[in-house]
Amino acid sequence: MASAEPDQRGDHPDDEFEFHRGQVRHTDEPDAIEFVDVHKTFGRNHVLRGLNMALPENKISMILGPSGTGKSVCIKHIVGLLYPDEGDVIVHGKSVPSLPDAELFEMRKKFGVLFQDGALFGSLKLYDNIAFPLRQHTEKSEEEIEDIVQRRMREVGLGDAGEKMPNELSGGMRKRAGFARALVLEPDIVLFDEPDSGLDPVRTALLCELIKEVHAENGGCYVVITHDIMSARRVAEHISVLWKGKIVESGPAEELFASENPFVRQFLAGESAGPLGME
Ligand SMILES: Nc1ncnc2c1ncn2[C@@H]1O[C@H](COP(=O)(O)OP(=O)(O)OP(=O)(O)O)[C@@H](O)[C@H]1O
Ligand SMILES: [Mg+2]
Repeated sequence: MASAEPDQRGDHPDDEFEFHRGQVRHTDEPDAIEFVDVHKTFGRNHVLRGLNMALPENKISMILGPSGTGKSVCIKHIVGLLYPDEGDVIVHGKSVPSLPDAELFEMRKKFGVLFQDGALFGSLKLYDNIAFPLRQHTEKSEEEIEDIVQRRMREVGLGDAGEKMPNELSGGMRKRAGFARALVLEPDIVLFDEPDSGLDPVRTALLCELIKEVHAENGGCYVVITHDIMSARRVAEHISVLWKGKIVESGPAEELFASENPFVRQFLAGESAGPLGME
């Protein structure tokens, strides 16, 4: 619904969105997550500007885009930590902003979220960090919890680290611990906000492999936010490129890597020449 006129916020869609295609592709399968014409403004900062984005069921989707474009803001809309000013965010057919608190609380059990630094509780040993959501959200016995926690710790290669405190772990271990904790409730949707930031290339590659393996085992809608094109090449099945609060292009990864769109090409190739500048 973009118009050529500057809108009330003073944006000039035509200058800024020259490279946006913004198409949402409709497939036979319903999408796990949909953003429908979402606008979000903080003060004078118009971050999401009519975002239409669909994230498919049972695939690893990546959201790529320059810093400050609103990627983390998207994640917060999905889990109901932020609400759109206009438009709707739909998860498994339900409008997140319209859910009453009790239903939002239930809905949140669907999500495993991996925050940027792993967000472990500093005063809890690793085992208790990973057990935390199970103790919080389920009636499981300590024996059942131990089974699950041990299995998840082994799965991410932290089988022997349960007694360690978070500050004794490396950055890569903290990410893997955060991943294990995100998985204990067997979420239908797993959201990763820059799982690869601060990791060296080898650990990034290992984490990407881990994400793929765990996804192959468990299925579900995985959404990975990253700046790292190598990570995208390794794990993405579906890619959405976000810029200035809208989708530039989205679709199967192989199509995006073959895109003719100058912005997408510049961004995915990491070239300095192109529409994207240092603004
Ligand atoms: N709660 C908030 N209050 C005010 N402004 C906010 C808030 N959250 C985000 N913003 C602003 O929204 C914009 C987008 O932020 P966001 O964190 O989503 O960017 P990003 O795409 O995740 O960037 P990066 O790749 O650097 O993590 C930024 O200008 C940020 O300052
Ligand atoms: Mg971010």
